[in-house]
Amino acid sequence: MTDIIADLVIHNGKIVSPDSVIEASIAIKDGQVLAIGAASAMPSATETFDASGLHLLPGAIDDHVHFRDPGYPHKEDWESGTAAAAFGGVTCVFDMPNTIPPTGTKEVLAAKHAIAASKAHVDFGLYGLLGDDTIAHVPDLIEGGVIGFKLYMGNTFGKIPSPDTGATLECFEVAAATGKRVSLHAENNDIMERRQKRLMAAGKKDQWAHLAARPNVVAVEAVSRAATLAEWTGARIHVLHISTAEELRPLREAKARGVDITGETCPHYLMLSTDDYDRVPGVIAVNPPVREAVNQELIWQALLDGAIDVIATDHAPHTPEEKTRKDIWTVDCGFPGVETQMPLMLTAVNAGRLSISDYVRISAYNPARIWGLYPRKGALQPGSDADIAIVDLSRDHIIRDAEIQSRSKISPWDGRPVKGVPVHTLVRGRFVMKDRKLVAGTKGWGQSVHAIQAMPEPTVRNAEHSMQAIVGRQS
Ligand code: DOR
Ligand code: ZN
Repeated sequence: MTDIIADLVIHNGKIVSPDSVIEASIAIKDGQVLAIGAASAMPSATETFDASGLHLLPGAIDDHVHFRDPGYPHKEDWESGTAAAAFGGVTCVFDMPNTIPPTGTKEVLAAKHAIAASKAHVDFGLYGLLGDDTIAHVPDLIEGGVIGFKLYMGNTFGKIPSPDTGATLECFEVAAATGKRVSLHAENNDIMERRQKRLMAAGKKDQWAHLAARPNVVAVEAVSRAATLAEWTGARIHVLHISTAEELRPLREAKARGVDITGETCPHYLMLSTDDYDRVPGVIAVNPPVREAVNQELIWQALLDGAIDVIATDHAPHTPEEKTRKDIWTVDCGFPGVETQMPLMLTAVNAGRLSISDYVRISAYNPARIWGLYPRKGALQPGSDADIAIVDLSRDHIIRDAEIQSRSKISPWDGRPVKGVPVHTLVRGRFVMKDRKLVAGTKGWGQSVHAIQAMPEPTVRNAEHSMQAIVGRQS
């Protein structure tokens, strides 16, 4: 040990894991954690950093962002999106495939990998699009390094066609054999389309009509159906953006039956409700919608008892013009969140809603585990990547849309006071955000994490009934 010289030793911080908070020093070498312990036990170091009064968290892994690149540079790109991540203590993001063109072929995937690698400040994974038109591309997309797949059961921004139930089953059969996880936009498309058409015909076009088109049953039906198909095929699925209390029943039941199903929610479903609709109409429009306050408590409970595994953001940037159109059916749904998730959740930690260890479990440890990245990611222990959010739990701050890094300067969080802010962020041992400023020269430092992903062996069920078994591969 005495001969080793660390690149960096951070002293006096409180290091947080899902089950402990310890005051210790942490030594970093070659981008990884070398040692954790008493200051006197640390090797000598090229650089030291004093984190007195601060907490060191494994950087958040946001498995649900839309960085819009390629396709919508006026909304966001990999540079602005990952700068926002760095400011939010987020050291790894998974980008959704509803870009232009959608990430559904190996060529498009390779192009997106190249763009991301040239611009990203933080590490990343890329989703491949799974739908009727891309089933045959699954082997190529895996070879090209997707982190997992995204399947749009319901339509939303980008108008990716939703596979019908037959195609969804086939998608799950194919995904099951790969062992990769499939993230689901779990809203029933038929119900939404029918209701939206009728609402439009009736001339309804305010924020409330958007909710009326997507009542809770839209989500619970889709989660139930997805759980059934996942159980049948053995596919691993991840239910994105859980917004209703009702979804928790099929989620819990499927987990109890041993289905590899995981769940995610976002700060807006925990902290905003229909009570905010008239304050920020249009701006608050998101799919699935922010719902009645009665859902919040049960979603919080599910996050704490483990039914919901992950806090992510569905970071969905749009411009003020796109968010403030008078006709709700023409408003682009979603808003930025990658930068504000951590301050909002740390505010809840300060309020006693969850512990700082709970927070690390849902923001870093669990996502790393369910995506096959643990313990390289999602942990601060020897051998882990030194992805660290250094946070000041006592710092008060007011979220201002005008100040956020995202190109999308409009969100329902504008003016909201928070307590607990990331002040420095390291990705693989390198500061990318320091003292609330982006560190020069870190553009392009981020890299794809697919190479370090190790999912468990596939657990295929009912293979003899699969489309491939009954008719052979068609393409
Ligand atoms: O509101 C949303 N916006 N929900 C989604 O599922 C997609 C997202 C987007 O890409 O803007
Ligand atoms: Zn999304």
